[in-house]
Amino acid sequence: MISLKDKIKSRRAKIAVIGLGYVGLPLAVEFAKAGFTVAGIDVNPGKVKLINGGRSDILDVDSSELRILVRERKLRATSSYRVVAGMDAVSICVPTPLRKTREPDISFVVNASMEVAKHLRRNQLIVLESTTYPGTTDELILPILSKGRLKAGKDFYLAFSPERVDPGNKTFHTENIPKVVGGITPKSTRLAKLLYEQVVDTVIPVSSSRTAEMVKLLENTFRSTNIALVNEMALICNRLGVDVWEVVDAAATKPFGFMPFYPGPGLGGACIPIDPHYLLWKAKLLGVEAKFIELAGEINRSMPEYVVGKITGALNGRRKSVKGSLILILGVAYKKDVNDSRESPAREIITSLRTMGAKVSYNDPHIPVMEFDAKPVKSVALTDKILRQADCVAILTDHSEYNFADIVTKAKLIIDTRNATGSLKKYRNKIVKL
Ligand SMILES: NC(=O)c1ccc[n+]([C@@H]2O[C@H](COP(=O)([O-])OP(=O)(O)OC[C@H]3O[C@@H](n4cnc5c(N)ncnc54)[C@H](O)[C@@H]3O)[C@@H](O)[C@H]2O)c1
Repeated sequence: MISLKDKIKSRRAKIAVIGLGYVGLPLAVEFAKAGFTVAGIDVNPGKVKLINGGRSDILDVDSSELRILVRERKLRATSSYRVVAGMDAVSICVPTPLRKTREPDISFVVNASMEVAKHLRRNQLIVLESTTYPGTTDELILPILSKGRLKAGKDFYLAFSPERVDPGNKTFHTENIPKVVGGITPKSTRLAKLLYEQVVDTVIPVSSSRTAEMVKLLENTFRSTNIALVNEMALICNRLGVDVWEVVDAAATKPFGFMPFYPGPGLGGACIPIDPHYLLWKAKLLGVEAKFIELAGEINRSMPEYVVGKITGALNGRRKSVKGSLILILGVAYKKDVNDSRESPAREIITSLRTMGAKVSYNDPHIPVMEFDAKPVKSVALTDKILRQADCVAILTDHSEYNFADIVTKAKLIIDTRNATGSLKKYRNKIVKL
C-alpha cells in the first residue's frame, strides 16, 4: 500500500479543505493548482454552488483560474462531509469568532471536528488552520477525533498550522508566506510540513501544536498592541498640535529598533480585534492577567467614538449640529482595497452618528451593500453633487480608487483618519486629522 508520505510527495493525495472563506478557498486553489485533487466542504450551500459554478467571492481568488480547476475536476465543492472518508489530508479553516461576552466561540471548530471524526480512517492527516487559543488542537480536537478506535500519531495524524493570509496584499500570498506547523507527534509535524511544502515556499516546523497556536497569537497580539500604542500617540499628538504621521515616518528612519505602525479609526477584520481575546481568555484560565492585551483592546475599541467626537467637534466649529447634518463616510471595509467589512469601525461610527440624528450615507467601491439592523443600506455613487452636498466627509478607508486631491477640492469639511490627504496644505482649513 502506498504510504501517506508518498501520496503527498507524488501529489496523488486527496485533500479536503473545510470552510471555503478568505482562508480556505485560496488554500484549496493552491493545492488544486499543485496537482492535488481537492474537495472543498462548506455548510453554506450558496457558497458551494458559487464555487462549482467557477465563481469566486474572495478577492485573492481569480474566477477564471477557479473555473479551470473546477472544469478539470481538480477542485469540487460540497456540503457533505461524506467525502472525508476518501481523503488523505483534511485542512480545517472554519471561523473562530467571539461571543458577545468577548469569549472564544469555538463551536465552528467543534462542529467541523465532530463531522470529520464520523468519517476518520487510518493514515489520514488532519490540520487545523483556524486561529484559536493554545491547547485547542490537543485538548479539544484530539479527544473528539480519538473517540473511535483509531490512535493519534499511529493510525492518524494531527497538527496545527496557523494561516497568515493577508487579503488584498499584492506581494505576499499563500505560496510565499512562510508557514508554521506543529503536530501533536513528531510524525504529525513531519507529514504536515511535507504537505504544505507542496504549495508554500518555506515551512517552519515547531515542537508542538500548542507552540504553533501560540505563534499566531503572538503575531496578532503584537499588531493589536502596537496599533493601540500608536493610537494613543495620536491622541497625545492631537493635543500637542503635532501630526502623528509625520512623527511615525520620521521615527521610522531609525534603521534599527523601530517598526512603524499607523493610527486609524479602530480595528477591523476577522483577526486583529478578535484573536488576542482568545489568548486573554486562555491566560485567565491559567491565572495570568494579560494586562497588555486588555489595555490594547480598550484603546483600540475607543477609537470609533473618538472619530465621532472629531466629526461632532468639527461640525460644531462650523456652527452645525450633528442632528440633521449630511455626513458622507468614505470606506466601510476594515482596510484598504478589501471587500470585507467584518468588525469594521465604520459600523459603530455610522450607528452612533445616526443615533444623534445625522443623515449618514456611505461610499465604498468594494462594499456595495452593508446591513444595519438587518436592513440593507446601499453604497452611494461618489458624484460631485454628493461630495459638495455633504456637511462633512469622513475618510475611514483609503481605497486606491479614491482620488483624494479631487475629493478635498469638492468637500466642505473632511475628517481624515488615514492621512489620506497627506499634506495638502492649501486645504488645511477644511481638513481635520485623527
Ligand atoms: N480572513 C483573514 O484574513 C484570516 C487570516 C488569517 C487567519 N484567519 C482565520 O482563519 C479562520 C477562517 O477565517 P475566514 O476569514 O476564512 O472565515 P470566513 O467566514 O471567510 O470563511 C469560513 C467559511 O467556513 C464555513 N463554515 C462554517 N462552519 C462550517 C462547518 N462546520 N463546516 C464547513 N464549513 C463551515 C462558512 O460557511 C464560511 O464559508 C478563522 O479562524 C480566522 O481567524 C483569517
